[in-house]
Amino acid sequence: MASQMSERIVQLLNEIEELKARREKEIEEFRVRYLGKKGEVTKLFEEFRNVLPEQKKEFGRKLNELKQAAAAKIEALKASLEEAAETPECSFDLTKPGDACELGTRHPISITREEIIAIFNKLGYSLAEGPEVEDDYHVFEALNFPPDHPARDMQDTFFISSGKSPILLRTHTSSVQVRTMERRKPPIRVICPGRVFRNEAISARAHCIFHQVEGLYIDKAVSFADLKQAILLFVKEMFGESTQIRMRPSYFPFTEPSTEIDISCNICGGKGCNICKGTGWLEIMGAGMVDPNVLKASGIDPEVYSGFAFGMGIERIAMLKWQVRDLRHYFENDVRFLREFETSL
Ligand code: PHE
Repeated sequence: MASQMSERIVQLLNEIEELKARREKEIEEFRVRYLGKKGEVTKLFEEFRNVLPEQKKEFGRKLNELKQAAAAKIEALKASLEEAAETPECSFDLTKPGDACELGTRHPISITREEIIAIFNKLGYSLAEGPEVEDDYHVFEALNFPPDHPARDMQDTFFISSGKSPILLRTHTSSVQVRTMERRKPPIRVICPGRVFRNEAISARAHCIFHQVEGLYIDKAVSFADLKQAILLFVKEMFGESTQIRMRPSYFPFTEPSTEIDISCNICGGKGCNICKGTGWLEIMGAGMVDPNVLKASGIDPEVYSGFAFGMGIERIAMLKWQVRDLRHYFENDVRFLREFETSL
């Protein structure tokens, strides 16, 4: 009896030592099999009753050791299972370099357009958009262009159809301002970003397609001082706090008085360099007080309302901001050029 029991204890110790589990369920099964009510170890404890008194001490110790060994093994299996769950086994090599996902970059014209829009949004201007294919009325006639104005000439404008009211590609986004005035009552405060088309020879300084942002503000008692202040605020945000503006008299059919606006050269700080051709100033936009004829054409009473308008080329602003020397870069989409603007996002 005693030797049988000894053998069984050794056998069970070996068995328990060898146990392996990959699931929690298996560990529970082991526990039941050895330590459960009818488990192997428990059974031995029952048989212990029949052991001779002088052998009880020795077997008692051995049985307790077996029970502890079983309990310890079950705990150890549980612990290793938990650890495995925390560090999942990987079938792939984590040290291999990953497949890089190459990110595109925004086009410098888009970056500049968004920046211009954001600045004017802060000043309370909302966005207005209109068609690129327009009629003569919205591009020229409503904007007070005389019938013989050179801008209407075949050399400047891409005509799609001729006739009494020709269809053409808009040469400026002032057409959107006309459409806005037709639709809405003052106060009006909008900016109109968009693509424009002019029949010009492509060079470093001119292109037949470019982008503009034009602005319009109409309300009671809007003055030239308001125009100056809005533009000054804009250029300081766009080109830096120390930027100054200069207004030169100019002519546009749709504004009176009209002006061309320069900023102090952001490269040399106004001292004169090859970018500003030694003048210390860079031209950035046209502007003026909306001509009463334009207001009238769109059904706004010039006796009650006044307003200003301005228009700038996005390419030009971006050129000055990043010192791009050739306008054609914007349209060629050479990735080496486009990548230059990654950090400007
Ligand atoms: N529409 C003019 C252009 O394309 C710019 C401009 C807009 C000038 C508004 C004055 C006022 O050149």
